[in-house]
Amino acid sequence: MRLMITGADGLFGSQMAPLFMNDSFYSEVVLKSVNDFDIRQKKDVIKNVCEIKPDILIHMAAWVDVDGCEKKPQEAMEINYRGVMNITEACRMIDSKLIFISSDYIFDGIDPPLGGYLENSESNPLNVYGKAKRFSEQYIQNMLHNYLIIRTAWLFGGGNAQNSFILKVLDSLKYSNKFYAIVDQVGSPTYSVELGECLCKILKSKDFDSLKGIYHIANTGECSWYDQALKTVEFMYGRTHQYKIIPVLMNSSSYYARRPKYSVLNTDKFYYATGIRLSSWENSLKQYIESLKI
Ligand SMILES: NC(=O)c1ccc[n+]([C@@H]2O[C@H](COP(=O)([O-])OP(=O)(O)OC[C@H]3O[C@@H](n4cnc5c(N)ncnc54)[C@H](OP(=O)(O)O)[C@@H]3O)[C@@H](O)[C@H]2O)c1
Repeated sequence: MRLMITGADGLFGSQMAPLFMNDSFYSEVVLKSVNDFDIRQKKDVIKNVCEIKPDILIHMAAWVDVDGCEKKPQEAMEINYRGVMNITEACRMIDSKLIFISSDYIFDGIDPPLGGYLENSESNPLNVYGKAKRFSEQYIQNMLHNYLIIRTAWLFGGGNAQNSFILKVLDSLKYSNKFYAIVDQVGSPTYSVELGECLCKILKSKDFDSLKGIYHIANTGECSWYDQALKTVEFMYGRTHQYKIIPVLMNSSSYYARRPKYSVLNTDKFYYATGIRLSSWENSLKQYIESLKI
């Protein structure tokens, strides 16, 4: 089994790649970063993918700065939609199974179903990043028969204080005893390591060939950024500490792009298909914070 991963040095990719690299199940695991090829360059994408001929390609390369995407929509569409089109076309040429990582930001948070969004809930992205993800999903669905679209959300674990909320909280509290966190945006935080382990498991399962279409995978439960910041501090410093987490509303934040107020992902479909359910976000966050203490 030959596996290729794009965006392998990103937040999720860097957590996930070692899990695959050390596994003899794969005859070859090829990790690609932006230094190897730019997904916007169709010729380079096709040349690289066709040379490697992976059985499975996990496409994680993306521009994930939601506000940056809103400020530069053309660039965002080039990377997050055109880039996916290029990857999809390459997969079609050599009949590779494409695993595309999509996002909860394809939903608008208005009138969500009880228990969170389902795979077939109506999408209505509020920002350019979400639109590019949804267009990409539709393109893949039209072009390929062998694909897996995994929608996940609010990844933590890995990264740095610039792109990881948890590290941003802990880093800020080194300089101030206060941290302002958004209280009116609710989602499904997801531990990148646990998501990576879950992908490892399903790729090796006997039912993997028949697993196709869109699935939501996220830690269970739901919370706001404020709840997540509170738990981060509690797990790091114990229940009694000197830090103050102050709730703020989205419309008084520095967000440039609109975000859904509620984008919790219902993960039942994935559970019924695979028997796998990720743990609660609190348990996973605790495990991640413990790993930071070592
Ligand atoms: N982070 C989240 O909360 C979240 C939630 C839902 C879904 N996702 C999806 O999960 C996937 C992984 O996200 P992540 O958080 O790991 O993002 P990340 O840390 O930013 O990693 C993405 C990687 O893609 C690379 N990249 C950017 N533009 C590229 C281009 N034109 N050609 C080739 N590579 C390019 C980036 O390189 P540079 O860093 O050098 O630009 C980076 O290494 C993405 O598809 C993202 O949309 C993420």
